[in-house]
Amino acid sequence: MSGRRRLVLLAAGATALALLTGPALAVAEPGDPGSPRYGQGADGVGDPYFPLAGNGGIDVLHYDLDLDYTPAPPAPAPVEGRLDGVATIDLVATQDLDRFNLDLRGLTASRVTVGGKPMAFEQTENELVISPRPKIKAGAPRRVVVTYGGTTTRPTDIEGALYGWVTTRDGAMVVSEPDGSATWFPVNDHPTDKSSYSFEITVPEGLVAVANGLPAGQPTTVDGTTTWYWDAPDPMAAYLATASVGDYVVNEYVAANGTPIFDAVDPTRLGSPSANLALTSDMLVFFEGLYGPYPFISYGAIVDDDSVGYALETQTRSFFSRTASQGTVAHELAHQWMGDHVSPHRWADIWLNEGWATYSTWMWTEHRGGDTAQAAFDDYLSIPADDDEWDVVVADPGPLGLFLNPIYDRGAATLHALRLEIGDAAFFEVAQTWVERFGGGTASTADFIALAQEVSGEDLEAFFDVWLFTPEKPVAW
Ligand code: TRP
Ligand code: ZN
Repeated sequence: MSGRRRLVLLAAGATALALLTGPALAVAEPGDPGSPRYGQGADGVGDPYFPLAGNGGIDVLHYDLDLDYTPAPPAPAPVEGRLDGVATIDLVATQDLDRFNLDLRGLTASRVTVGGKPMAFEQTENELVISPRPKIKAGAPRRVVVTYGGTTTRPTDIEGALYGWVTTRDGAMVVSEPDGSATWFPVNDHPTDKSSYSFEITVPEGLVAVANGLPAGQPTTVDGTTTWYWDAPDPMAAYLATASVGDYVVNEYVAANGTPIFDAVDPTRLGSPSANLALTSDMLVFFEGLYGPYPFISYGAIVDDDSVGYALETQTRSFFSRTASQGTVAHELAHQWMGDHVSPHRWADIWLNEGWATYSTWMWTEHRGGDTAQAAFDDYLSIPADDDEWDVVVADPGPLGLFLNPIYDRGAATLHALRLEIGDAAFFEVAQTWVERFGGGTASTADFIALAQEVSGEDLEAFFDVWLFTPEKPVAW
Protein backbone atom coordinates (compact mmCIF):
# COMPACT_ATOMS: atom_id res chain seq x y z
CA MET A 1 0.00 0.00 0.00
CA SER A 2 1.25 3.45 -0.82
CA GLY A 3 2.37 5.52 2.15
CA ARG A 4 0.32 8.40 0.80
CA ARG A 5 -2.89 6.52 1.18
CA ARG A 6 -2.03 5.42 4.69
CA LEU A 7 -4.58 6.39 7.30
CA VAL A 8 -3.12 8.84 9.77
CA LEU A 9 -4.45 8.23 13.25
CA LEU A 10 -4.92 11.35 15.25
CA ALA A 11 -4.07 11.28 18.92
CA ALA A 12 -6.47 14.21 19.31
CA GLY A 13 -9.46 12.01 18.45
CA ALA A 14 -10.60 11.59 22.03
CA THR A 15 -10.35 15.34 22.64
CA ALA A 16 -12.44 16.07 19.57
CA LEU A 17 -15.07 13.63 20.82
CA ALA A 18 -15.09 15.25 24.26
CA LEU A 19 -15.62 18.63 22.61
CA LEU A 20 -18.49 17.34 20.46
CA THR A 21 -20.31 15.93 23.46
CA GLY A 22 -19.22 18.86 25.59
CA PRO A 23 -22.28 21.09 26.06
CA ALA A 24 -24.45 18.55 27.89
CA LEU A 25 -21.63 17.86 30.31
CA ALA A 26 -20.42 21.40 30.79
CA VAL A 27 -21.52 21.48 34.43
CA ALA A 28 -18.97 18.86 35.44
CA GLU A 29 -16.27 20.29 37.67
CA PRO A 30 -12.62 19.44 37.23
CA GLY A 31 -11.90 16.40 39.31
CA ASP A 32 -15.58 15.52 39.72
CA PRO A 33 -15.46 11.74 40.17
CA GLY A 34 -18.83 11.28 38.46
CA SER A 35 -17.90 13.20 35.34
CA PRO A 36 -17.94 11.09 32.17
CA ARG A 37 -15.82 13.73 30.45
CA TYR A 38 -12.72 12.32 32.05
CA GLY A 39 -11.21 9.45 30.18
CA GLN A 40 -8.06 7.43 29.78
CA GLY A 41 -5.16 8.72 27.73
CA ALA A 42 -4.45 6.32 24.86
CA ASP A 43 -1.64 3.77 25.25
CA GLY A 44 0.08 5.10 22.09
CA VAL A 45 0.17 8.29 20.02
CA GLY A 46 -1.21 6.50 16.96
CA ASP A 47 1.95 5.70 15.04
CA PRO A 48 0.97 2.60 13.02
CA TYR A 49 4.56 1.19 13.07
CA PHE A 50 4.79 1.23 16.89
CA PRO A 51 1.24 1.27 18.29
CA LEU A 52 2.34 1.42 21.94
CA ALA A 53 4.99 4.13 21.44
CA GLY A 54 4.18 7.34 23.25
CA ASN A 55 0.91 8.05 25.00
CA GLY A 56 -2.27 10.00 24.40
CA GLY A 57 -3.52 12.81 26.59
CA ILE A 58 -0.21 14.19 27.85
CA ASP A 59 2.47 16.61 26.69
CA VAL A 60 5.72 16.32 28.64
CA LEU A 61 7.54 19.63 29.07
CA HIS A 62 10.54 18.45 31.08
CA TYR A 63 12.17 15.26 32.36
CA ASP A 64 14.49 15.51 35.34
CA LEU A 65 16.24 12.13 35.60
CA ASP A 66 18.05 11.23 38.79
CA LEU A 67 19.83 7.95 38.02
CA ASP A 68 21.97 5.72 40.17
CA TYR A 69 23.83 3.08 38.19
CA THR A 70 26.27 0.29 38.89
CA PRO A 71 27.42 -1.52 35.74
CA ALA A 72 28.13 -5.17 35.27
CA PRO A 73 30.83 -6.65 37.45
CA PRO A 74 33.84 -7.94 35.46
CA ALA A 75 33.37 -11.23 33.58
CA PRO A 76 32.05 -13.92 33.82
CA ALA A 77 28.76 -13.09 32.12
CA PRO A 78 25.87 -12.31 32.32
CA VAL A 79 26.43 -8.66 31.61
CA GLU A 80 23.97 -7.08 34.01
CA GLY A 81 23.83 -3.81 35.86
CA ARG A 82 21.66 -2.15 38.45
CA LEU A 83 19.72 1.02 37.65
CA ASP A 84 17.67 2.99 40.18
CA GLY A 85 15.92 6.16 39.11
CA VAL A 86 13.69 8.96 40.21
CA ALA A 87 12.05 10.60 37.19
CA THR A 88 10.44 13.99 37.84
CA ILE A 89 8.19 14.66 34.88
CA ASP A 90 6.49 18.00 34.29
CA LEU A 91 3.58 17.50 31.94
CA VAL A 92 0.37 19.13 30.76
CA ALA A 93 -2.83 17.16 30.16
CA THR A 94 -4.10 17.51 26.58
CA GLN A 95 -7.49 16.00 27.46
CA ASP A 96 -9.46 15.49 30.66
CA LEU A 97 -7.72 12.52 32.28
CA ASP A 98 -8.72 10.02 34.92
CA ARG A 99 -5.94 7.68 33.79
CA PHE A 100 -2.85 8.14 31.67
CA ASN A 101 0.13 6.07 30.63
CA LEU A 102 3.88 6.42 30.40
CA ASP A 103 6.02 3.91 28.52
CA LEU A 104 8.25 1.80 30.80
CA ARG A 105 9.70 -1.63 29.97
CA GLY A 106 11.80 -4.04 32.00
CA LEU A 107 12.03 -1.83 35.11
CA THR A 108 9.69 -1.76 38.09
CA ALA A 109 8.02 1.34 39.49
CA SER A 110 7.79 1.35 43.27
CA ARG A 111 6.14 4.72 43.88
CA VAL A 112 4.29 7.31 41.82
CA THR A 113 3.24 10.76 42.98
CA VAL A 114 1.16 13.31 41.10
CA GLY A 115 1.14 16.85 42.46
CA GLY A 116 3.16 15.58 45.43
CA LYS A 117 0.63 12.91 46.49
CA PRO A 118 1.07 9.14 46.15
CA MET A 119 -1.17 7.67 43.43
CA ALA A 120 -2.45 4.27 42.39
CA PHE A 121 -0.67 2.74 39.40
CA GLU A 122 -0.33 -0.52 37.49
CA GLN A 123 2.31 -1.88 35.17
CA THR A 124 1.96 -3.99 32.04
CA GLU A 125 4.84 -5.12 29.82
CA ASN A 126 5.26 -1.73 28.11
CA GLU A 127 3.04 0.65 30.05
CA LEU A 128 2.94 2.35 33.43
CA VAL A 129 -0.73 3.21 33.99
CA ILE A 130 -1.37 6.01 36.49
CA SER A 131 -4.76 6.96 37.96
CA PRO A 132 -4.45 10.54 39.23
CA ARG A 133 -6.82 11.82 41.94
CA PRO A 134 -7.99 14.45 41.65
CA LYS A 135 -8.40 13.83 37.94
CA ILE A 136 -6.58 16.18 35.61
CA LYS A 137 -8.38 18.72 33.49
CA ALA A 138 -7.20 19.40 29.93
CA GLY A 139 -4.59 22.14 29.95
CA ALA A 140 -3.62 21.60 33.60
CA PRO A 141 0.08 21.15 34.45
CA ARG A 142 1.16 18.37 36.79
CA ARG A 143 4.40 17.17 38.29
CA VAL A 144 4.64 13.37 38.17
CA VAL A 145 7.41 11.67 40.13
CA VAL A 146 8.17 8.00 39.43
CA THR A 147 10.57 6.03 41.61
CA TYR A 148 11.71 2.92 39.74
CA GLY A 149 14.55 0.51 39.17
CA GLY A 150 15.76 -2.92 38.20
CA THR A 151 18.40 -5.06 36.61
CA THR A 152 19.72 -3.84 33.27
CA THR A 153 20.69 -6.23 30.47
CA ARG A 154 21.20 -5.76 26.72
CA PRO A 155 17.75 -5.10 25.19
CA THR A 156 17.08 -5.40 21.45
CA ASP A 157 14.74 -3.60 19.04
CA ILE A 158 12.11 -5.15 16.76
CA GLU A 159 14.88 -6.13 14.29
CA GLY A 160 17.11 -7.66 16.95
CA ALA A 161 19.64 -4.78 17.12
CA LEU A 162 20.90 -3.77 20.57
CA TYR A 163 19.27 -0.56 21.81
CA GLY A 164 18.00 1.24 24.90
CA TRP A 165 20.06 0.99 28.08
CA VAL A 166 22.70 -1.47 26.85
CA THR A 167 24.78 -2.71 29.77
CA THR A 168 28.54 -2.94 29.23
CA ARG A 169 31.33 -4.17 31.47
CA ASP A 170 32.39 -0.62 32.33
CA GLY A 171 29.07 1.18 32.01
CA ALA A 172 26.23 1.49 29.51
CA MET A 173 25.72 2.50 25.86
CA VAL A 174 22.42 4.36 25.77
CA VAL A 175 20.96 4.68 22.25
CA SER A 176 17.19 4.37 21.93
CA GLU A 177 16.01 4.68 18.32
CA PRO A 178 13.16 4.17 17.68
CA ASP A 179 11.36 3.22 20.92
CA GLY A 180 14.05 2.18 23.41
CA SER A 181 13.87 5.02 25.93
CA ALA A 182 11.27 3.06 27.89
CA THR A 183 14.09 0.66 28.86
CA TRP A 184 15.62 3.37 31.09
CA PHE A 185 12.98 5.89 32.14
CA PRO A 186 9.20 6.34 32.20
CA VAL A 187 8.55 8.31 29.04
CA ASN A 188 6.16 9.55 26.38
CA ASP A 189 8.33 7.75 23.86
CA HIS A 190 7.50 9.35 20.50
CA PRO A 191 9.18 12.21 18.57
CA THR A 192 5.91 14.18 18.49
CA ASP A 193 6.39 14.99 22.18
CA LYS A 194 9.69 16.87 22.53
CA SER A 195 10.87 18.01 25.96
CA SER A 196 13.81 19.55 27.77
CA TYR A 197 15.86 17.31 30.05
CA SER A 198 18.14 17.49 33.06
CA PHE A 199 20.21 14.64 34.48
CA GLU A 200 21.91 13.73 37.72
CA ILE A 201 23.76 10.45 37.21
CA THR A 202 25.58 8.70 40.04
CA VAL A 203 28.13 6.03 39.08
CA PRO A 204 31.08 4.27 40.74
CA GLU A 205 34.02 6.64 41.17
CA GLY A 206 36.31 6.59 38.12
CA LEU A 207 33.52 6.27 35.57
CA VAL A 208 32.16 9.15 33.48
CA ALA A 209 28.42 9.63 32.86
CA VAL A 210 27.72 11.62 29.68
CA ALA A 211 24.30 12.91 28.78
CA ASN A 212 22.92 15.51 26.36
CA GLY A 213 23.51 19.25 26.48
CA LEU A 214 26.07 20.86 28.74
CA PRO A 215 27.58 19.94 32.10
CA ALA A 216 25.58 21.65 34.87
CA GLY A 217 28.35 22.07 37.39
CA GLN A 218 31.36 20.01 38.41
CA PRO A 219 30.92 16.31 39.17
CA THR A 220 30.87 15.55 42.90
CA THR A 221 32.47 12.49 44.52
CA VAL A 222 31.26 11.09 47.85
CA ASP A 223 31.95 7.66 49.36
CA GLY A 224 33.26 6.04 46.19
CA THR A 225 30.55 7.33 43.86
CA THR A 226 30.62 10.29 41.48
CA THR A 227 27.56 12.26 40.41
CA TRP A 228 27.53 13.93 36.98
CA TYR A 229 25.14 16.80 36.21
CA TRP A 230 23.80 17.62 32.73
CA ASP A 231 21.33 20.14 31.41
CA ALA A 232 19.72 19.77 27.97
CA PRO A 233 17.31 22.70 27.46
CA ASP A 234 16.73 22.24 23.71
CA PRO A 235 13.47 20.41 22.88
CA MET A 236 14.42 16.76 22.31
CA ALA A 237 12.70 13.60 21.11
CA ALA A 238 13.05 10.80 23.68
CA TYR A 239 14.96 8.46 21.34
CA LEU A 240 17.76 11.04 21.17
CA ALA A 241 18.34 11.19 24.93
CA THR A 242 21.44 9.46 26.27
CA ALA A 243 23.15 8.89 29.61
CA SER A 244 26.07 6.72 28.59
CA VAL A 245 28.48 5.56 31.25
CA GLY A 246 32.03 4.32 30.85
CA ASP A 247 35.72 4.73 31.24
CA TYR A 248 36.07 7.81 29.02
CA VAL A 249 38.72 10.41 28.28
CA VAL A 250 37.02 13.81 28.15
CA ASN A 251 37.97 16.47 25.58
CA GLU A 252 36.33 19.90 25.81
CA TYR A 253 36.83 22.76 23.34
CA VAL A 254 34.94 25.40 21.37
CA ALA A 255 34.36 24.81 17.63
CA ALA A 256 35.04 27.44 14.94
CA ASN A 257 31.33 28.36 14.81
CA GLY A 258 31.28 28.97 18.60
CA THR A 259 29.57 25.72 19.64
CA PRO A 260 31.00 24.21 22.87
CA ILE A 261 32.14 20.62 22.27
CA PHE A 262 32.29 17.84 24.89
CA ASP A 263 33.74 14.54 23.63
CA ALA A 264 33.99 11.38 25.74
CA VAL A 265 36.17 8.69 24.18
CA ASP A 266 37.13 5.29 25.52
CA PRO A 267 40.90 5.26 26.08
CA THR A 268 41.30 2.39 23.59
CA ARG A 269 39.64 4.49 20.84
CA LEU A 270 41.90 7.53 20.87
CA GLY A 271 43.44 6.71 17.46
CA SER A 272 41.41 6.91 14.26
CA PRO A 273 38.02 7.76 15.87
CA SER A 274 39.52 10.78 17.62
CA ALA A 275 41.32 11.88 14.43
CA ASN A 276 37.97 11.92 12.59
CA LEU A 277 36.20 13.69 15.47
CA ALA A 278 38.82 16.43 15.12
CA LEU A 279 37.06 17.38 11.82
CA THR A 280 33.87 18.26 13.76
CA SER A 281 34.69 21.98 13.85
CA ASP A 282 35.14 22.17 10.04
CA MET A 283 32.01 20.09 9.52
CA LEU A 284 29.94 22.40 11.73
CA VAL A 285 30.99 25.36 9.58
CA PHE A 286 30.25 23.43 6.36
CA PHE A 287 26.78 22.23 7.41
CA GLU A 288 25.85 25.66 8.79
CA GLY A 289 26.53 26.94 5.27
CA LEU A 290 24.08 24.38 3.85
CA TYR A 291 21.34 24.21 6.48
CA GLY A 292 21.60 27.35 8.61
CA PRO A 293 22.83 27.90 12.19
CA TYR A 294 23.63 24.82 14.30
CA PRO A 295 20.38 24.39 16.27
CA PHE A 296 21.58 23.38 19.76
CA ILE A 297 23.64 24.69 22.69
CA SER A 298 26.43 22.13 22.41
CA TYR A 299 27.81 19.17 20.52
CA GLY A 300 30.25 16.32 21.03
CA ALA A 301 30.66 12.58 20.72
CA ILE A 302 30.74 9.46 22.83
CA VAL A 303 32.95 6.67 21.51
CA ASP A 304 32.67 3.40 23.42
CA ASP A 305 34.83 0.27 23.18
CA ASP A 306 31.77 -2.02 23.18
CA SER A 307 29.41 -2.01 20.19
CA VAL A 308 25.72 -1.86 19.40
CA GLY A 309 26.66 -2.29 15.71
CA TYR A 310 25.76 1.23 14.58
CA ALA A 311 26.16 4.90 15.47
CA LEU A 312 23.33 7.18 16.65
CA GLU A 313 22.73 10.91 16.39
CA THR A 314 21.93 11.31 20.11
CA GLN A 315 21.05 15.00 20.37
CA THR A 316 24.03 17.29 20.98
CA ARG A 317 26.19 14.20 21.68
CA SER A 318 26.42 11.60 18.90
CA PHE A 319 27.21 8.05 19.93
CA PHE A 320 29.75 5.84 18.12
CA SER A 321 30.48 2.15 18.67
CA ARG A 322 34.22 1.43 18.49
CA THR A 323 34.71 3.11 15.10
CA ALA A 324 33.90 6.61 13.94
CA SER A 325 34.75 6.92 10.25
CA GLN A 326 34.89 10.39 8.71
CA GLY A 327 31.70 9.66 6.77
CA THR A 328 29.85 8.54 9.92
CA VAL A 329 31.09 11.54 11.91
CA ALA A 330 29.63 13.79 9.17
CA HIS A 331 26.43 11.69 9.00
CA GLU A 332 25.67 11.95 12.74
CA LEU A 333 26.49 15.67 12.85
CA ALA A 334 24.20 16.40 9.87
CA HIS A 335 21.42 14.52 11.72
CA GLN A 336 21.45 17.28 14.35
CA TRP A 337 19.61 19.46 11.80
CA MET A 338 17.96 16.62 9.90
CA GLY A 339 16.36 14.17 12.32
CA ASP A 340 17.03 15.85 15.65
CA HIS A 341 15.90 19.46 15.18
CA VAL A 342 13.37 18.38 12.52
CA SER A 343 12.21 14.90 13.55
CA PRO A 344 10.01 12.33 11.83
CA HIS A 345 6.31 12.88 12.47
CA ARG A 346 5.73 9.15 12.08
CA TRP A 347 8.40 6.44 11.88
CA ALA A 348 7.38 5.89 8.25
CA ASP A 349 9.09 9.25 7.59
CA ILE A 350 12.52 7.86 8.56
CA TRP A 351 13.97 8.39 5.04
CA LEU A 352 13.91 12.14 5.79
CA ASN A 353 16.42 11.44 8.60
CA GLU A 354 18.64 8.95 6.83
CA GLY A 355 18.37 10.34 3.31
CA TRP A 356 19.45 13.82 4.45
CA ALA A 357 22.25 12.48 6.67
CA THR A 358 23.58 10.27 3.86
CA TYR A 359 23.32 13.07 1.31
CA SER A 360 25.17 15.33 3.76
CA THR A 361 28.09 12.89 3.75
CA TRP A 362 28.05 12.87 -0.06
CA MET A 363 28.32 16.66 -0.02
CA TRP A 364 31.02 16.67 2.70
CA THR A 365 33.08 14.16 0.69
CA GLU A 366 32.82 16.39 -2.40
CA HIS A 367 33.75 19.43 -0.28
CA ARG A 368 36.89 17.63 0.87
CA GLY A 369 37.96 16.89 -2.71
CA GLY A 370 36.70 13.29 -2.85
CA ASP A 371 33.96 11.88 -5.08
CA THR A 372 31.32 14.41 -6.06
CA ALA A 373 27.68 13.99 -4.98
CA GLN A 374 26.95 13.44 -8.68
CA ALA A 375 29.48 10.59 -8.77
CA ALA A 376 27.93 8.99 -5.66
CA PHE A 377 24.49 9.33 -7.29
CA ASP A 378 25.71 7.80 -10.59
CA ASP A 379 27.35 4.99 -8.68
CA TYR A 380 24.12 4.24 -6.82
CA LEU A 381 22.09 4.36 -10.04
CA SER A 382 24.43 1.77 -11.56
CA ILE A 383 22.76 -0.91 -9.39
CA PRO A 384 20.86 -3.18 -11.86
CA ALA A 385 17.09 -2.80 -12.08
CA ASP A 386 16.49 -6.37 -10.95
CA ASP A 387 18.46 -5.93 -7.72
CA ASP A 388 16.35 -6.10 -4.52
CA GLU A 389 17.76 -2.66 -3.61
CA TRP A 390 14.81 -1.27 -5.58
CA ASP A 391 12.10 -3.33 -3.86
CA VAL A 392 11.50 -0.97 -0.93
CA VAL A 393 8.81 1.73 -0.74
CA VAL A 394 11.12 4.36 0.75
CA ALA A 395 8.37 6.49 2.28
CA ASP A 396 6.62 3.48 3.84
CA PRO A 397 9.18 0.75 4.56
CA GLY A 398 7.33 -0.87 7.47
CA PRO A 399 8.58 -1.11 11.07
CA LEU A 400 11.13 -3.80 10.12
CA GLY A 401 12.48 -1.68 7.26
CA LEU A 402 13.50 1.53 9.07
CA PHE A 403 17.23 1.00 8.58
CA LEU A 404 17.34 -0.84 5.25
CA ASN A 405 19.99 0.37 2.84
CA PRO A 406 17.52 2.11 0.43
CA ILE A 407 16.27 4.31 3.30
CA TYR A 408 19.80 5.75 3.38
CA ASP A 409 21.04 5.57 -0.22
CA ARG A 410 17.85 5.84 -2.24
CA GLY A 411 16.82 8.55 0.26
CA ALA A 412 20.03 10.44 -0.56
CA ALA A 413 19.60 9.79 -4.29
CA THR A 414 16.04 11.17 -4.08
CA LEU A 415 17.43 14.41 -2.66
CA HIS A 416 20.11 14.62 -5.35
CA ALA A 417 17.51 13.95 -8.07
CA LEU A 418 15.36 16.70 -6.55
CA ARG A 419 18.34 19.04 -6.69
CA LEU A 420 18.82 18.21 -10.39
CA GLU A 421 15.09 18.69 -10.96
CA ILE A 422 14.59 22.09 -9.26
CA GLY A 423 18.14 23.53 -9.33
CA ASP A 424 20.63 24.40 -6.58
CA ALA A 425 19.04 27.66 -5.46
CA ALA A 426 15.59 26.14 -4.90
CA PHE A 427 17.06 22.95 -3.42
CA PHE A 428 19.05 24.71 -0.71
CA GLU A 429 16.14 27.04 -0.03
CA VAL A 430 14.03 23.93 0.58
CA ALA A 431 16.70 22.60 2.98
CA GLN A 432 16.96 25.82 4.98
CA THR A 433 13.22 26.48 5.05
CA TRP A 434 12.67 22.88 6.21
CA VAL A 435 14.94 23.44 9.21
CA GLU A 436 13.57 26.89 9.97
CA ARG A 437 9.89 25.99 9.64
CA PHE A 438 9.84 22.58 11.30
CA GLY A 439 12.83 22.88 13.66
CA GLY A 440 11.96 22.03 17.27
CA GLY A 441 9.14 19.76 16.10
CA THR A 442 8.33 17.03 13.59
CA ALA A 443 7.51 16.90 9.88
CA SER A 444 6.26 14.28 7.45
CA THR A 445 6.93 13.20 3.88
CA ALA A 446 3.76 15.07 2.86
CA ASP A 447 5.17 18.23 4.49
CA PHE A 448 8.40 17.77 2.52
CA ILE A 449 6.66 17.32 -0.82
CA ALA A 450 4.46 20.36 -0.14
CA LEU A 451 7.50 22.49 0.74
CA ALA A 452 9.48 21.39 -2.33
CA GLN A 453 6.49 22.31 -4.52
CA GLU A 454 5.97 25.63 -2.71
CA VAL A 455 9.61 26.70 -3.07
CA SER A 456 10.14 25.48 -6.64
CA GLY A 457 6.69 26.35 -7.95
CA GLU A 458 6.74 23.00 -9.74
CA ASP A 459 4.30 20.11 -9.63
CA LEU A 460 6.50 17.36 -8.20
CA GLU A 461 3.89 14.70 -7.59
CA ALA A 462 5.05 12.39 -10.37
CA PHE A 463 8.68 12.92 -9.35
CA PHE A 464 8.10 11.89 -5.71
CA ASP A 465 5.80 9.07 -6.77
CA VAL A 466 8.67 7.49 -8.68
CA TRP A 467 11.36 8.10 -6.06
CA LEU A 468 9.51 7.50 -2.80
CA PHE A 469 6.43 5.42 -3.46
CA THR A 470 7.33 3.04 -6.31
CA PRO A 471 9.29 -0.11 -5.42
CA GLU A 472 11.18 -0.11 -8.72
CA LYS A 473 14.35 1.47 -10.02
CA PRO A 474 13.65 5.06 -11.13
CA VAL A 475 14.19 5.48 -14.84
CA ALA A 476 15.24 8.59 -16.78
CA TRP A 477 17.68 9.93 -14.17
N1 TRP B 1 19.92 6.12 12.99
C1 TRP B 1 21.20 5.48 13.04
C2 TRP B 1 22.09 6.22 12.05
O1 TRP B 1 21.97 6.02 10.87
C3 TRP B 1 21.10 4.05 12.71
C4 TRP B 1 20.35 3.05 13.52
C5 TRP B 1 19.57 3.15 14.63
C6 TRP B 1 20.40 1.68 13.20
N2 TRP B 1 19.15 1.93 15.03
C7 TRP B 1 19.66 1.01 14.17
C8 TRP B 1 21.01 0.95 12.19
C9 TRP B 1 19.53 -0.39 14.15
C10 TRP B 1 20.89 -0.42 12.17
C11 TRP B 1 20.14 -1.08 13.15
O2 TRP B 1 22.87 7.04 12.39
ZN1 ZN C 1 21.58 8.07 10.28
